[in-house]
Amino acid sequence: MLIQFFQKFSHATSEPWCLLSLNGDILALNPAMVEFIDCSQQQVVGLPLKDFLATKQELLPKYLKLAASSTDAMPITLNILKNKTLSVECLCKISLIVPVDNSNSPCLLLRLDKPCQQENVFLKLNSELETLRQKYHELKKQKDQLTNYVKERTQRLYQEIKERKEVEKTLMQAEKMAALGSLVSGVAHEINTPIGIGVTGSSHLEDISLRFKKLFSRNAMKKSDLNYFLEDCEETSRIIHSNLQRASDLIHSFKQVAVDQSSEKKRRFNLKSYLEDVLLSLYPMVKKTAHTVTLNCPENIELNSYPGAFSQILTNLIVNSLIHGFENSNAGMVVIDIETECNELKLMYKDDGIGMTEDQQKKVFDPFFTTKRGKGGSGLGMHVVYNLICKKLFGTIECCSSLGKGVSYLITIPLDQPII
Ligand SMILES: Nc1ncnc2c1ncn2[C@@H]1O[C@H](COP(=O)(O)OP(=O)(O)OP(=O)(O)O)[C@@H](O)[C@H]1O
Ligand SMILES: [Mg+2]
Repeated sequence: MLIQFFQKFSHATSEPWCLLSLNGDILALNPAMVEFIDCSQQQVVGLPLKDFLATKQELLPKYLKLAASSTDAMPITLNILKNKTLSVECLCKISLIVPVDNSNSPCLLLRLDKPCQQENVFLKLNSELETLRQKYHELKKQKDQLTNYVKERTQRLYQEIKERKEVEKTLMQAEKMAALGSLVSGVAHEINTPIGIGVTGSSHLEDISLRFKKLFSRNAMKKSDLNYFLEDCEETSRIIHSNLQRASDLIHSFKQVAVDQSSEKKRRFNLKSYLEDVLLSLYPMVKKTAHTVTLNCPENIELNSYPGAFSQILTNLIVNSLIHGFENSNAGMVVIDIETECNELKLMYKDDGIGMTEDQQKKVFDPFFTTKRGKGGSGLGMHVVYNLICKKLFGTIECCSSLGKGVSYLITIPLDQPII
């Protein structure tokens, strides 16, 4: 009865009202209260009022008891939850309602005055602040997780790079050793012949000396024997000398191929005047012929590099032009054009000799490739040039040639030499 009565009359007021049982369960709400707490009747009716309070829930039974024992309305401040989340501090009044006919048990009427606006804002801010704080902690946690992940990943990458470098180093070392191994066996093979001839020659010398000694000790030596011995000695010594010289040259070339990177110190030099000196030292080879060597080089190229490497490269190229290129010519021409471009030195070497076949051109930088085997060629000259340019000077070399059209090489060398 009381509930129906409440529902009938509480519509009329814009004040939020709520009908409560004596123990604080919600029995009914008027529309203003429904709007205020932002929950429907069905969601709320039957639940205890304390479920809708943000604070002081434990004091509520005491308040209700006080209100129930008084005939006057009892003022009280409650923090009521709006939509079960936002706390709003409100001034309320609770009064006891007793049915006139005692047909129903008494109830309590809770009436809300206006919410305390300032505190309301403060509470709202407080709750927003709390949300923000939570978000900040979440973000911080995520950031920490991300930082840890990046740190771990960086460490793993660093380790991987380190391991890869180690593997590369080992591979490079193995490759170097393999190349050196094949070079050593090649050199051993090449050296075998001159050394063998030297050994045969010296044992022949030993034989003829013994024979000569016997003739002499038996007093049976004739003038012709002496002549024959001297001639044989001369010829054999010449053979021994030339073959040992050849073996020595091969060993020298081999040492060059190994390109000992630390053997020569870097120094500053003027490229043009240095190369002119190199050409001068080659002059004895050219002077008996009508061959010409022209050097076009700017005066002002100062390099901080390995002059010995430049000398060796130019010497090997020119000697090749003289021996191979101008084999059938008395008046060959070599032109060397040098220029700098984009921090690079460009050296264009050109001769107008017999040139090379496609096959020769492909193999020209291979160790032991020579078309003059048995005639003084070891096939190491251009391999040395290649190694010096690519490994010592960190440059490149390209060969361009065809039969009858001479040979040209385009060499590029960085002007800023890496520090090694
Ligand atoms: N300017 C050139 N013209 C024609 N052929 C050349 C020229 N330069 C090199 N070649 C060819 O390339 C080959 C390899 O040259 P490389 O200098 O390596 O060896 P080589 O001159 O034969 O012997 P060495 O080790 O004594 O220099 C030569 O045997 C020759 O066939
Ligand atoms: Mg050569």
